[in-house]
Amino acid sequence: MPLVLWAAASPANAELAARVAGLTSSGCHATSTCLPVPGSPHTRENRPRRSTMQVRSWSRSAGHDLTSACRPTDLDRGATRMTANQFDHLDPGLAPVMNEVFAAFRSNCPVAHSDRHGGFWSAFSHGAVRSTALDTRGFSSAAGIAIPPVTQDVVMAPMQYDPPEHAAFRAIIQKHFTRAAVAKHEAALRELVGRRLSALAAEGGADLVSEFAAVIPPIAFAEVMGLPHEDAQLFVSWTNELFAAAVMGDLAGQQRTFGIIASYLQTEIDRQRRAGADTVTTAIADGRLDGDGRALTQGEQLGMILLLVLAGHETTVAGIATMLYCLATVDGLREKVVERPDLIGKMVDESLRFESPVIGIARTVGQDAELAGQSLHAGERVLMVLSSANRDPEVFDRPDEFVCPRDRNPHLTFGTGVHRCVGEHLSLLEMRVVAEEVLRLVPDFTLVEGHRPRWVPGRLVRSLDSLPVTFER
Ligand code: HEM
Repeated sequence: MPLVLWAAASPANAELAARVAGLTSSGCHATSTCLPVPGSPHTRENRPRRSTMQVRSWSRSAGHDLTSACRPTDLDRGATRMTANQFDHLDPGLAPVMNEVFAAFRSNCPVAHSDRHGGFWSAFSHGAVRSTALDTRGFSSAAGIAIPPVTQDVVMAPMQYDPPEHAAFRAIIQKHFTRAAVAKHEAALRELVGRRLSALAAEGGADLVSEFAAVIPPIAFAEVMGLPHEDAQLFVSWTNELFAAAVMGDLAGQQRTFGIIASYLQTEIDRQRRAGADTVTTAIADGRLDGDGRALTQGEQLGMILLLVLAGHETTVAGIATMLYCLATVDGLREKVVERPDLIGKMVDESLRFESPVIGIARTVGQDAELAGQSLHAGERVLMVLSSANRDPEVFDRPDEFVCPRDRNPHLTFGTGVHRCVGEHLSLLEMRVVAEEVLRLVPDFTLVEGHRPRWVPGRLVRSLDSLPVTFER
């Protein structure tokens, strides 16, 4: 089971990316099987060969060979070329041009096979992503939702369970994440966001990623868990430590950190029980499967809590940063929502569609299946490319434009079906409160001139590295 499902810009991940990027130094000769993407880890020696299965699967499809069925994406952006059979969502060179690459894949090959990471299928169209997510019999979450998986012991419920077990785990936390339940935290969040913004405004400028966006989700997590806000950063450090240990294969290090977290949580559970609190922490500690079935094991409790940290942190940081970037750069958008604050909810939704924080979520094929004309075999892995589905012209009018208000916005940023994001309403609340407070307190923030934020790819999340701004005084 992948422990680090969502890590994006953590130091350990940056190091991993740097190591991967280091492999590019000898360059890549542009042949039909080795098409360079800036920063791509292909060298003449290590470049992947088309697997027999992959060629077989392409020739099976509609009688095309690979090159005609799925032409290389040849973008007029320097040397950016990538064929679907070399698609790698973790390639640092993909992040800046991702949307253009996906547009080409979507129209040429809505479901395609890549040789990377041991081989996996990608679903690029909205229809293919949706039908994969809704078919929990055909496409299982049990082997984890990341490609490639990171292996360790803790099972992350409910994400890693298929129906019917999935529902029993999800029911334990669901009631704390409804729209009405998270609304109870709005005042506390607003206070925090306002205080933070005022402090930054007094400085005259800030990096809105590291000094602002990154600070909010850990505190929102602490708030719903009933933990002291000042402990929020502890969870960020612990998950970074776990990620670093997982990348290094340091199981002893992982166990040590699990021990520290378990002991912290036990103290908190005791404290909250004594205070008669009703929080996500007590719900998990006292939760029973199917209402009155067995209690959760300590490992299951830990897995659920870690999942909430991992799933809610980098995703929402990326969501907030991207929204602020859109407010700073999309022509006329800021003026429009200042004039019509009733559009803020739609603006938040559109920014989540426009640049989805989560690039893709994986499944494992449960039984041989057809997907958009491709034959998939049991045991193969599939990446549902949410970012691509969100710009599918079959579903979205003017998909590459930021449209606010957009009347119908069936984006898949939070997934769909039984695994649809538990924290959706919490992150929407965080983003709405951030937008409202930014527009109230520092509506004239300006991106530092000449600064071009960089898109950083993570195992699942794509985020902006920085957003330096100045505030009008
Ligand atoms: C903008 C922010 C967020 C995005 C883009 C996002 C995205 C997603 C997606 C795409 C899934 C579906 C996974 C699948 O199909 O396997 C998911 C599931 C999940 N998310 Fe989020 N998420 C966000 C914020 C949060 C927050 C704030 C929390 C909690 C604090 C959270 C907790 C979860 C959990 C527990 C699941 C598993 C649900 C299940 O398997 O039933 N997420 N999220």
